[in-house]
Amino acid sequence: MDQDALKKGVAQAAIDALRAHPTDQLVLGVGTGSTTEYFIHGLADIRDRIDVTVSSSDRSTALLEALGFKVVDLNAAPRVDLYVDGADEANHRLQLIKGGGAALTREKIVAAVAERFICIADESKRVDTLGAFPLPVEVIPMARSHVARELVNLGGQPVWREDVITDNGNIILDVHGLRIDAPLETERHINDVTGVVSNGLFAMRPADELLLGTQQGVISITA
Ligand code: A5P
Repeated sequence: MDQDALKKGVAQAAIDALRAHPTDQLVLGVGTGSTTEYFIHGLADIRDRIDVTVSSSDRSTALLEALGFKVVDLNAAPRVDLYVDGADEANHRLQLIKGGGAALTREKIVAAVAERFICIADESKRVDTLGAFPLPVEVIPMARSHVARELVNLGGQPVWREDVITDNGNIILDVHGLRIDAPLETERHINDVTGVVSNGLFAMRPADELLLGTQQGVISITA
């Protein structure tokens, strides 16, 4: 199976998990990215179980609305029962790197609120140590050079993703060359740099469950 087929398989496994969820009036948090887009398309089959959705990006909002789902502002949501989203890397503690699609800040906010976070990913995303995938950092535009210098001091090589402005009007620096042995500390350290909005490490709020699409089928890993 190619990577796309693995993504479709794991998205379908998340749909099956939602079908079995005890609540039939789900307030569902929806992530961003190609794996999540397969999941969004699959939601049409379980429409009757979903009350409203909360989205992590303008792109996912547009897709959800095109399929007829109600998308509410997080501030107006009574709660978020479940958040389903992809990842760029996942370690054995279900700590993640996210933000390949530049939606990391909103993804982090929805994940922070969610009762349960199910990460859906194909097996290429599973790593022993985070950091081979360049770590996305969302930055206030005027702080770009300052934050870049601080990231160099941390041992990384930041590269400005010049063609991207986030949904929040900011820029992304992708930090190459970091071997992240202590994800919690690295996440906090980067957050402390003035001008950083957020970074793509999900260590303070890891996933609760990783559905991993493998050649042998989808496996569920819990922390
Ligand atoms: C979006 O900003 C990201 O966090 C995605 O969830 C992540 O990049 C995974 O994307 P794919 O599902 O497209 O691999």
